[in-house]
Amino acid sequence: MSSGLCSRAGSEEPGLRELLQPALPRPAPALLFAWYSLHARKLPWRETTDPYRIWISEIMLQQTQVKTVLHRYLEWFDTFPTIEALASASTDDVLKAWEGLGYYRRARFIHRAAQMMIADFGGRFPHRFDDMMKLPGIGRSTAGAISSFCFGTSTPVLDGNVKRVLKRWFAKPEATDKELWLLAQQVIDDSGDPATWNQLMMELGATTCSAKSAHCDDCPVNVCCDSAFQVDTSKEVRKAVPVLDVHWRIHLFTCPQKGIWLIQRPDSGIWGGLWTPPITELDDRPEEAPTHIHQLSHRRLHLYPYQSEVEPLGDGRWVPSIEGYALPTGIHRLLEKVT
Ligand code: ADE
Repeated sequence: MSSGLCSRAGSEEPGLRELLQPALPRPAPALLFAWYSLHARKLPWRETTDPYRIWISEIMLQQTQVKTVLHRYLEWFDTFPTIEALASASTDDVLKAWEGLGYYRRARFIHRAAQMMIADFGGRFPHRFDDMMKLPGIGRSTAGAISSFCFGTSTPVLDGNVKRVLKRWFAKPEATDKELWLLAQQVIDDSGDPATWNQLMMELGATTCSAKSAHCDDCPVNVCCDSAFQVDTSKEVRKAVPVLDVHWRIHLFTCPQKGIWLIQRPDSGIWGGLWTPPITELDDRPEEAPTHIHQLSHRRLHLYPYQSEVEPLGDGRWVPSIEGYALPTGIHRLLEKVT
């Protein structure tokens, strides 16, 4: 195990910054680049520097697993080959294309951002980091990824995986986000290849140095990691997310001639803008068992279908087939069980 305080790779004289922050241990970049070139997963967004394609991949990957994104990524560009095609599509079409990826707010952000690119950035993805940050859905970490991958800037990614890698590497379990940004900036500046650096830090966090286990035996930088072979995942602080149980009655109005009655949910809130049968929230857990339980980040939805025999009222429409409509995965699963 190294102290992590050895001098910064490539610099002649230690500067003030080196005295304030632990510098990147000397062999680390070379070891990591070698490891990455041997072990990196082959992922389609790693084979392009097209900002539109990188942007879509980064937004999809914000809250959706790589294996799910892999099934959907290329298909997106068949539906919306260009920023212009995306900007001029209807919100319904964008939500439909996002179906199954979850966190639909991202689809609205993408749609609005594409429209901003047409209105404010000459129809292309902005090249300046500060302009990227003006787009909905793009924060500092996502802008860092896009800017480094497309334009080679030394702008770090600091997602959950990278935070964990840095905390372990420099044995700073209590580090604040501010400290981690400083550290992330320092190590990427030292790396000499920011784009590959960001990819490999995410790769390390997703594989060898994951939240569930640290495979220090297989880690390329175990010789200079301050936590090597000492990681106790059970002691690591994880943000506890309180999950609330809610009980929803799903009113199914179906008719052989007309199909199923759907309403469009309001833009804000759970499943915003998606189409569902009418839903009412139940004050108490009913005696019957739910037909389906769908877990969201902060809510566990217990779904209780009820086949209505009366005519539906209010805003909504009969749809002969749900095919052209963006329905939440939880409703798809429920309908599979009851129809
Ligand atoms: N998660 C976020 N960005 C990613 C990327 N470029 N590759 C793999 N996983 C990621």
